Amino acid sequence: MDTKTNYLGLEIDSPIIAGSCGLTNDISNLEKLEAAGAGAVIIKSVFEEQIIYDIKRNLSMMAPTDNYGMSYEYIASHVADDSLGKHFDLIREAKKRLHIPVIGSINCYSFENWMTYTQRFQEAGCDALELNMAILPYETTLSCEDVERLFSDIINTLRKSVNIPISIKVSQNFTDMANFMQRLSWMNVNGITMFNKALNVDIDIDKLELTHAPSLSNPDDIYNTLRWVAILSKKLRCDISASTGVHSADDVVKMLLAGAGTVQVVSCLYKNGVDYMRTINDGLCSWMTAKGYDSISQFKGKLAVKANEQSSLFFRTQFMKHFAQL
Ligand SMILES: Cc1cc2nc3c(=O)[nH]c(=O)nc-3n(C[C@H](O)[C@H](O)[C@H](O)COP(=O)(O)O)c2cc1C
Repeated sequence: MDTKTNYLGLEIDSPIIAGSCGLTNDISNLEKLEAAGAGAVIIKSVFEEQIIYDIKRNLSMMAPTDNYGMSYEYIASHVADDSLGKHFDLIREAKKRLHIPVIGSINCYSFENWMTYTQRFQEAGCDALELNMAILPYETTLSCEDVERLFSDIINTLRKSVNIPISIKVSQNFTDMANFMQRLSWMNVNGITMFNKALNVDIDIDKLELTHAPSLSNPDDIYNTLRWVAILSKKLRCDISASTGVHSADDVVKMLLAGAGTVQVVSCLYKNGVDYMRTINDGLCSWMTAKGYDSISQFKGKLAVKANEQSSLFFRTQFMKHFAQL
């Protein structure tokens, strides 16, 4: 069975990738994921605040009055032990021990001079870089145009600083999702990861405190990702990696049929252990055998909205087929 595919210009043996998370911050997990058939691994993100802290610490300039506010305090207490140095050591170690691509990850939300630091990912040997652009429309002063300009400024600057492939991980919140994703795919990026799952805030009504909702996804979370992958896979000029809500081999198959080039898994690994990667890979192979497919390319995008098809009509038809009968 040939499950080989190409992602960000890299040949990979399986379209199933371990997404960026705490599990990929550990060399023994990375080795287990490779042994269980992961096509690639995306290392736990470095956060923009960590980079800024490191830059300023090196320059002995960091002061609590800086713009990073509360996150400064958090980062200062957590990275005093040179977590960035350890992070790059992990990437170097992973590159020594693994044969599959090792993808670095940065979580960022602003346009600052932290981007020059991205070269260190390349120097550490990353095969590609995923940029988790956690820019959420929380500010009343932030317009669509501001957000989109930020994306293009960051991508243009990043492109000048590294020459490894870049993918952009986006949130599920865009007013002009289809239009912007297409324009993003024209911006000299190699891939778009759809989507990041935002951490939801909850309220503890006994303690009258803010708390956070569970961070793991549920199988039902797949549908939003599936919809957008199906709409966009034939309309973008770069690869799509599907993320959020993939919990089984069947989910992987659905994403590939919708046109995803690769599929990222995280929550299902937390729930079932990293060896679950093997179960999903085996399930994909069993489905391909049952359907008589020898390679991913034979069915990838088979159920996507066609390049010249109007997505709104396609979905209106599905909607009418279902609700007109109820
Ligand atoms: C515990 C945990 C840690 C995560 N850490 C990161 C991270 O460092 N960088 C990142 O881009 N995404 C991170 N994510 C998000 C995942 O990569 C993924 O986008 C999200 O969990 C949705 O995929 P899933 O449904 O397979 O879990 C994290 C998710 C979880 C649950």
